[in-house]
Amino acid sequence: MPITPTPNIWMNGEMVPWDQAQTHVLTHTLHYGTGVFEGIRAYETSSGPGVFRLTEHMQRLHESAQIMMMDLPYSVEELVEATKAVVRDSGLPGCYIRPIAYFGYGEMGLNTLPCSVDVAIACWPWGAYLGDDAVTKGVRMKISSWSRHDHNTMPPASKTTGNYVNSSLAKVEALKAGYDEAIMLNPQGLVSECTGENIFVARGGRLVTPPMSAGALEGITQDTVMAIADDLGFEVIVSDLARSDLYICEEMFVCGTAAEVSAVNSVDDREIPCPGEMTTAIAAEYAKCVRGELPQYKDWVELVG
Ligand SMILES: Cc1ncc(COP(=O)(O)O)c(C=O)c1O
Repeated sequence: MPITPTPNIWMNGEMVPWDQAQTHVLTHTLHYGTGVFEGIRAYETSSGPGVFRLTEHMQRLHESAQIMMMDLPYSVEELVEATKAVVRDSGLPGCYIRPIAYFGYGEMGLNTLPCSVDVAIACWPWGAYLGDDAVTKGVRMKISSWSRHDHNTMPPASKTTGNYVNSSLAKVEALKAGYDEAIMLNPQGLVSECTGENIFVARGGRLVTPPMSAGALEGITQDTVMAIADDLGFEVIVSDLARSDLYICEEMFVCGTAAEVSAVNSVDDREIPCPGEMTTAIAAEYAKCVRGELPQYKDWVELVG
């Protein structure tokens, strides 16, 4: 999806004009995929732009850095304030926000310990990641020939840039085969997640989503969906799923900050009822939640002021 520039990017504590937010070709992370990042959305609310679960995203950035043994030079609170400043500066009513922390220029070789750490936060307008009609028409999924990382190969709980080589291979394979998105199985053959979304399926009237132990990222949208589902009276469990659970499920959706709640209409050409009742109800509540329209979750929307 093409990027529309905004005036400035926050880099190491300063607002830098978009075109000047550059880094050296010998930047460590460019070579070894050792950066950590987040994907966040701000939505238009009646009180101006509000960033959805901003603090939790910055806490997860810190956790990703902790897994990578990267010392982030900014606290969660400082990153929250920097994000609000970038969104304010953009003048956009809503946007996608991309913070990234990376090992910088000055050292080469696989030892990251002596490297400097740089942090940047950019934002730009971004539409629905899996298409505007993903929630009503659903998306076509393919089980990837690529496996999700094993915990002892690449830590899937960290949003490390290098982890996404695996996601990109799976995404391109699915697109070239005529599908919209890929489902990743873990090395044990159990369902893990998609290339950038968590999975929910309905089986026997209840929703099931795979755990972090299956290689899934602990999604902030996944957590939001579980809270909303509970409010709506739908039973949700976190449990392992086999490939066949997907083929015979009553309904299925995927969720993530970029994709929001997107229905699934088929997996490997096995049709799935779409959009399911639970999917439609959860997607509608999610749209209200991110805009601060559900009183019980108003605190999740952090206004940029
Ligand atoms: C691999 C992966 N799984 C799941 C998700 C969904 O996470 P979240 O809902 O926190 O955006 C993402 C997006 O960050 C992701 O990259």
